[in-house]
Amino acid sequence: MCGIVGYAGRRDAAGVLIDGLNKLEYRGYDSFGIATSDDGIHIVKKQGRISENGSSVSGLTGHIGIGHTRWATHGVPDDKNAHPHTCCTGDIAVVHNGIISNYAKLKRELIAGGHLFSSDTDSEVIAHLIEENLNGSLLEAVNDTVQILEGSYAFLAMSKDDPGIIAARMESPLVLGLGDGEIFASSDMTTILDYTQNIVFLEDGDIASVSSDKIIIFNSGNQVERAAEIVEWDAGAARMGGFAHFMEKEIYEQPEVFFNTLASVDDGEIIEEIKGSSGLRVIACGSSYHAGLIFRYMMEECSDIPVRVDLASEFRYFRPVSGELVIAVTQSGETADTIAALKQAQMHNCRTLAITNVLGSSVTRVADYTLYMRAGPEISVAATKSFIAQLAVFFQIVNHLCDGRYNYMDKMCHQVIEEVLLLDMEDAVSLCSGAGNLFFVGRSVFYPVSLEGALKMKEITYIHAEGYAAGELKHGPFSLLSKDTPVVAVCTPGNSRTAMLSNIREIKTRGAPVIGIGEVDDPDLEDIVDVLIPIPKSPVSGQILAVTVLMQVLAYRTAKVLGRDIDKPRNLAKSVTVE
Ligand code: G6P
Repeated sequence: MCGIVGYAGRRDAAGVLIDGLNKLEYRGYDSFGIATSDDGIHIVKKQGRISENGSSVSGLTGHIGIGHTRWATHGVPDDKNAHPHTCCTGDIAVVHNGIISNYAKLKRELIAGGHLFSSDTDSEVIAHLIEENLNGSLLEAVNDTVQILEGSYAFLAMSKDDPGIIAARMESPLVLGLGDGEIFASSDMTTILDYTQNIVFLEDGDIASVSSDKIIIFNSGNQVERAAEIVEWDAGAARMGGFAHFMEKEIYEQPEVFFNTLASVDDGEIIEEIKGSSGLRVIACGSSYHAGLIFRYMMEECSDIPVRVDLASEFRYFRPVSGELVIAVTQSGETADTIAALKQAQMHNCRTLAITNVLGSSVTRVADYTLYMRAGPEISVAATKSFIAQLAVFFQIVNHLCDGRYNYMDKMCHQVIEEVLLLDMEDAVSLCSGAGNLFFVGRSVFYPVSLEGALKMKEITYIHAEGYAAGELKHGPFSLLSKDTPVVAVCTPGNSRTAMLSNIREIKTRGAPVIGIGEVDDPDLEDIVDVLIPIPKSPVSGQILAVTVLMQVLAYRTAKVLGRDIDKPRNLAKSVTVE
């Protein structure tokens, strides 16, 4: 997850770009770069933060420019991997946010054709492809280039011989701002709002030709109109993208994160390693542990490879079995318990795989293999988008092992998450915020989803919330149920539905109010719960995402009502580097 910004107008471009990148730093801050154009293309790019190094680029001249702040995904954070990336001659410069999932193949072909690469990024292929296709205008070359690209992108390109910027968008946000004799481009409109509130939202497949006074937009080869909208946001409040907290912002980034991560898991060697193992052992802490539990349900439903899931801090008390592939899941890549468990597994001759969000983090230096989640920087302590990214990695592994059973997933899940973000949950929030104790219950894969829901709730609201297997409530916890103990119960179509309906009736009989989560148009469920939150109809993978995101939003809105310190809950840390 990176931030990009562009400018064409009468001002000094570097100043506008530095300002924009400072505002975008929340999207990534391991390196930055700017290209401006006057009698040629001038580039400065560096490891580190723009906020600490802005003076190094302030001397660049020109009234047109593009800039980038990076969260490393392909290639370590250093000067050469920082954007902008250029073609062989340096006459074309590109900044990119997203992931080009077929970049490895494209790069091989370009190298075979004589192109010289200077970075390890996926993004650099865009600059070389434009160079390869440049036979007339930059616009035409970009149009030919996007036909070949797979994955997600928002990119800006400029060339020495072209008087403007070309902007292209697919599954990654990109907006244009219309000023007076100047035009701005950015992956986030908050960058632009200090200059203009006249915003054009590009759509997937759009390619825009941008100069200081004109935008012409094409989609599928045809010119299209995209009306500008007046965005009446207070630019000050928009520093966090208009969201009140980073957690809210990160919740809303999840459709993009899920899609990007899904597209990036294609390592054939790792899939073969998994297929060849006698079993999988997942080790993790906190939310990552819950993602592992969800993986177990999904994997064992369609594959003969057994999956065990252990808390990393408890793993040392068990005996690893050589022949098992041990999978360490850790968004930070630094959790001490998880790394210690991984080392222990290696001492027992197990092969190891790390799933993490942070390039070059400690776990990647220990594990035999690494798969990266593409969540971008997560600032709020409570994990949201990193959890969704872990699910995307696991879903894609299951997909590879089980004959593409989730091939439909990318677009469908994107839409399901977006629909959930629009749900009204006021009654449920009011029940939760008035309670001292809550239960989250589900069966099958919705048991670990409920564990995660309860964790989110307790982390940020400080309400005692317990996740439980619905069938287990009667074996003890029933003694706690009363009218003051709301129960959040997941009851979706599938193999657990009938038993779940019975469990909800049992809970109701003990006087506890029930917040039911089920599919729309389910009168059986509607009849027995106090509050129903309906999720869109979808296959089970979509249901898992929908319920997960819904529970995040429920916790977030409850914490907001209670006035909690949502991004930095008391006593917690984002990365726990002690055992
Ligand atoms: C901390 C965080 C949790 C996270 C857990 C595991 O407790 O507050 O949000 O789930 O660590 O972190 P990891 O980086 O290993 O996924």
